[in-house]
Amino acid sequence: MDRTAQLTARVTGRGIAYDPPSTAPSAASLHVKAAHVLAANWTGTSTVPSRYLYPHQWSWDSAFIAIGLRHLSPLRAQTELETLLAAQWEDGRVPHIVFSPSVPLDAYFPSPDFWRSSSAGRAAGAPRTVQTSGIVQPPVHALAAWLVHRADPGLSWARGFLARVYPRLAAWHRYLLRRRDLGGGGLVSVVHPWEQGMDNSPCWDGPLARVTPAPAGSFRRADLAHGARADRPTDLDYGRYVRLAADYRDGEYADGFGEFAVEDPSFNALLIASEHALARIAAELGTPGTARHARAERLTAALVDRLWDDASGMFLCRDLRGGPIRERSVSGLVPLLLPGLPREVTGALLGTLRGPRFAARTGLVPSYDLRGPAFEPNRYWRGPAWFNTAWLVERGLRAHGERAAANALRAAFLRTAGDSGFAEYVDPDTGEACGAPGFGWTAALTLDLLHDMDGDMETGEEGGDRG
Ligand code: SER
Repeated sequence: MDRTAQLTARVTGRGIAYDPPSTAPSAASLHVKAAHVLAANWTGTSTVPSRYLYPHQWSWDSAFIAIGLRHLSPLRAQTELETLLAAQWEDGRVPHIVFSPSVPLDAYFPSPDFWRSSSAGRAAGAPRTVQTSGIVQPPVHALAAWLVHRADPGLSWARGFLARVYPRLAAWHRYLLRRRDLGGGGLVSVVHPWEQGMDNSPCWDGPLARVTPAPAGSFRRADLAHGARADRPTDLDYGRYVRLAADYRDGEYADGFGEFAVEDPSFNALLIASEHALARIAAELGTPGTARHARAERLTAALVDRLWDDASGMFLCRDLRGGPIRERSVSGLVPLLLPGLPREVTGALLGTLRGPRFAARTGLVPSYDLRGPAFEPNRYWRGPAWFNTAWLVERGLRAHGERAAANALRAAFLRTAGDSGFAEYVDPDTGEACGAPGFGWTAALTLDLLHDMDGDMETGEEGGDRG
């Protein structure tokens, strides 16, 4: 029997009552330490990814955090998602940052006075009572809401959780599908590297090279006060991030074909997984989810059609101005999460995961090709292994019946997360901690892997691969 299966934790709406197991000390202490990180990062209504480096609420962080929090407190997990969705814009977009008014402006850059959501975002329906950024992040939220509901259906029904979040999640997906299909092929495009979440991935080097950076003296980075320069994006990267964000803001956040427009495999795969989850939420609320499942299947077909690359054995990003981007990143492996992939695609993805480009010594998955020309083991998304992508790949392996590989990845995740002090990311070969310590989603997804042994995300209608 797996040692962690012996871990027992009783969960209440108010907090954690913990029964220490007699024979699983390491799993037990991992649980307690992860719970402490989440308690330290909890603000009362949401969880910061890191007290110092990221002192506000981040969109996809909150979704991953809710997935772990459900094992400690389903009430906090529901609140996490509700707080984020309360900042949704009238056009349906869910902003990538919801700013906390109690945090000083200079604690994080770009701050609310850069985004100016309540003025520049007025036409797009930005909320008046809370300040947000104007870009988005990967849509993990419906998947998170479904998993959170399933953790305590009684509490969820009593609070009307699903009925309240469903219309907001539906509007969020509608925004992406209607306003962001910039390539016209059915997939969603991101208009800024921060939207896709893997900020300085080598995949963006080509498209970003076209962007004139904002002058170095025109902004002040706050991240370097808390993160090592060698672990973070460069000043040139930041100049380009600032230029793209400022141009989008100055256009009042209207969507169109701008300088940066990329179709990304993991962003779209997460939308598809969430669309399947939304179908389940609809069915739970008494509305058939069949049309949503069908749409998710059509999106899966578009993903394979537009982004699958047989020669690489993985999905690639597509630059709408320049065509397929030939860099290999973990984003191209995340679609393994999906049911209904053609069998040969699943087989090739499994081969790529086991191959020399992605089989790192820690047993985790590097964010970028270990043999790629731009590989750097410490620098953010240019090589380090991250825990959210490891979780997604682990769930994908399990969904496709690859139990031994899933167990190995899960063991590597738990070992490295604990040893690194729940680091933001690690060197994929040595496991050396990089970025922020005590990182929210690392702790949360540790809890999920400790407690959800089956990984049954129930994202598909019937599950399984297409022959
Ligand atoms: N990831 C970005 C940062 O490092 C923002 O989303 O600040």
